[in-house]
Amino acid sequence: DQLKRVAIVGSGNWGSTIAKIVGTNIAKFNTYEQEVRMYVYEEIINGRKLTEIINQEHENIKYLPGHKLPQNVVAYSDVVEAVEDADILLFVIPHQFVERVCNTIKSRVKKTAFAVSFSKGFYVSQDKRVELLSTVISQLLELPCYVLMGANIASEVAGGSFCEATIGSRNYEHGQLIKSLIQTNEFRLVVKPDTEVIEVLGALKNIVAVAAGFSDGLGYGDNTKAAVIRLGLKEMVKFCEEFFPGHHPHIFLESCGVADLVTTCYGGRNRKVAAAFVKTGKDIKILEEEMLNGQKLQGPDAAAEVQQWLKQRGQANHYPLFVAVHEICERRLEPTTLIDALRNHPEFW
Ligand code: NAD
Ligand code: 13P
Repeated sequence: DQLKRVAIVGSGNWGSTIAKIVGTNIAKFNTYEQEVRMYVYEEIINGRKLTEIINQEHENIKYLPGHKLPQNVVAYSDVVEAVEDADILLFVIPHQFVERVCNTIKSRVKKTAFAVSFSKGFYVSQDKRVELLSTVISQLLELPCYVLMGANIASEVAGGSFCEATIGSRNYEHGQLIKSLIQTNEFRLVVKPDTEVIEVLGALKNIVAVAAGFSDGLGYGDNTKAAVIRLGLKEMVKFCEEFFPGHHPHIFLESCGVADLVTTCYGGRNRKVAAAFVKTGKDIKILEEEMLNGQKLQGPDAAAEVQQWLKQRGQANHYPLFVAVHEICERRLEPTTLIDALRNHPEFW
């Protein structure tokens, strides 16, 4: 049998963390090519290419500073070259870039390959259709696409703190293969036979995290944030039940559900920038540039995508927290109206 090849599409904060884990794990197997190719969106840092820095110093000094990558992780600036011979494609790019990258590599990936999406968000087409990212990947590349979502602030995972995540795969064999490739002693994985709801939870919790940031920025304490988390979770569950029926009810208790929601509402980038939005009065885009050093926010875009989805279905009134987050980000509502959305939530009718 030929050795299997793994490629990582993306090299941001989470992408580099996944590269560190997979590069280290793969050394334990004799069924894989040892080289793990990682697609790096090229940029120049202090006069040097980021790919060169990664390949010479084995560190992504911009997106995951302070963590060495294993030497078998090799950075490629050409995404086609990175994925061409791969049997397993791990998509870890900000959701805003998924379609563009898929269009670049379509017809260049192996027919027998499969993909895993780690990206949190939705895709909105030119004609305003909203789709799951795993569907976009699967359709454009003509291969199965599974997901991995969980309570995983990247720098903590890279540092080796214990955490867990959920793999969504209805294909048992592929699910187990993904688990063996990514699980470590400190990063424990549960495979569940679903993909859609697991992915949707990962996208929606970022909207709730923006609300948590607004609450923090307004000076409210932990009780208010707990209300944001609970009412946000209610909307997440309602969204899944309404639009993705048939899932296992306990899925919300997995890492991809309540755990990811909690970690992001306390420690995530969406929370941090949303709090600064309230405190400074600056636009989200400006703060993203000022505060994140090239990292990308997923929550404000996800709120716009969900608004689009709900409007198409005449359902916006039933999701006041999601809608308030979008309207506040767009400056059509004041941040304080978040509390009105909570106060008047259908929960209390
Ligand atoms: P990031 O926000 O750290 O980095 C942004 C990345 O986008 C960089 O690698 C940059 O080079 C790249 N980029 C910029 N412009 C680009 C373009 N035009 N085309 C392609 N790439 C471009 O990224 P991340 O944290 O690795 O996030 C990737 C996905 O993983 C997101 O959907 C995020 O929600 C998810 N995720 C992140 C974390 C985390 O803690 N960082 C944890 C779990 C899941
Ligand atoms: P942020 O993008 O808000 O940092 O959230 C990261 C994440 O998805 C943790 O699981």
